[in-house]
Amino acid sequence: MLRKAIKQFKLGVKNPAQAARVLASEAKMRAGIRTLRSVEMAVTWICNLDCDFCYAEDLMHAQKKPPHMPVDEVRRITKEAHDLGMIHINVTGGEPLVRKDIFEVVDAIPKDVVISLVTNSTLLTKEKVDGLKAAGLSTIQMSYGDYYLKSFKRDLARYCVEQGISVTLSVVNILSERANIEHAFKMAEEDDFSVLFNYPMIYKDIDLDSEYYWKMRYHPRCREDNMFWSGKDRCPAGTHKVYVTNDGDVMTCDRIHAIYGNLNEEPLADIHKRMYEQFIKHKSFCLLETCPDQWRENNQRSGHNYSPELLGTRSDPFNVFEGTQLMNGSVEGSTMAKEMHAARVGKTDDDAPAENGTNGAETDGTPAPDAEPSRAPSSH
Ligand SMILES: C[S@@+](CC[C@H](N)C(=O)[O-])C[C@H]1O[C@@H](n2cnc3c(N)ncnc32)[C@H](O)[C@@H]1O
Ligand code: SF4
Repeated sequence: MLRKAIKQFKLGVKNPAQAARVLASEAKMRAGIRTLRSVEMAVTWICNLDCDFCYAEDLMHAQKKPPHMPVDEVRRITKEAHDLGMIHINVTGGEPLVRKDIFEVVDAIPKDVVISLVTNSTLLTKEKVDGLKAAGLSTIQMSYGDYYLKSFKRDLARYCVEQGISVTLSVVNILSERANIEHAFKMAEEDDFSVLFNYPMIYKDIDLDSEYYWKMRYHPRCREDNMFWSGKDRCPAGTHKVYVTNDGDVMTCDRIHAIYGNLNEEPLADIHKRMYEQFIKHKSFCLLETCPDQWRENNQRSGHNYSPELLGTRSDPFNVFEGTQLMNGSVEGSTMAKEMHAARVGKTDDDAPAENGTNGAETDGTPAPDAEPSRAPSSH
């Protein structure tokens, strides 16, 4: 564990101010003092791909105007989060690189915070890497797996490392992705990357690769955010980590779409306090987990005894809190929530046509020579 913590610290932290903030935050969290550590921020709902497993599809579908979060909003919200202790932010979407002003977006975030950005790599070029570096990016999360084999560019990932931007290969930890994930770890060893496990939001027939998850979880190159940037060995969602949509809605995490307040109506401090007090009482491995057997296995493998009392339901795959007490304090009546629900009902029908296609965003269409072919059958 110590080896892992040191490795991840070295890969993420880029300057003394960040280091001091990370260490102070760790001490605060371990002392049980309320602090916000990590923010996931969707700065656009536009995306140039249409992956059918995407957890963001209902949010994209129900988007309000404008589809991009204005740079001034990014500045205001990240300042509020910084005041609450934020040490890490992940810029996400949609596809953040469709924004022509993405450098200004990154530059609006305080520089003593570890800044990462997650991308499908389709629009990534050396010039963009240079621009992101100049804007203060610490880590680039390049999504990797079946859906990204055409767009992943290993030469660009190496270029990022040369320029001082750490590279994390962002994978979804499901059985059918095993071969791709093994290859991701191989590349990580060879090129000094790390690998981020995304717990799957399951709404098609895809299953967590539990065996591999627990085998690799403590590997020094495995970036498992629950254990490092955003919390202790428990799910940080709603306590040490929140997700903000381009409309300012605040949720526990990107994969559970229950809204607990809006930043155009209330300060983040008030929303976070409310959420923290509710979620700190419920220890979980991942709030997404809905299977009692998996929960038992997680307890067994980790040596914890987390109560499955509030285990999520799967009645709404985009919101496993539905039907549980964890919905308490959410703003169920908001227009956004209703629109999202309506969007889900349409989008969970397997026969429904894709509605979030190319969206008019620029794309370079360049083939990816370094992407390895998948050796596992696709589950999609
Ligand atoms: C929603 S994407 C947004 C950023 C960018 N468009 C991309 O694909 O990298 C962020 C990450 O979430 C992952 N993701 C999407 N849907 C998921 C799901 N249902 N379960 C787990 N991870 C998912 C993607 O693979 C990607 O690494
Ligand atoms: S690239 Fe795929 S996973 Fe990322 S936002 Fe677009 S549709 Fe979702």
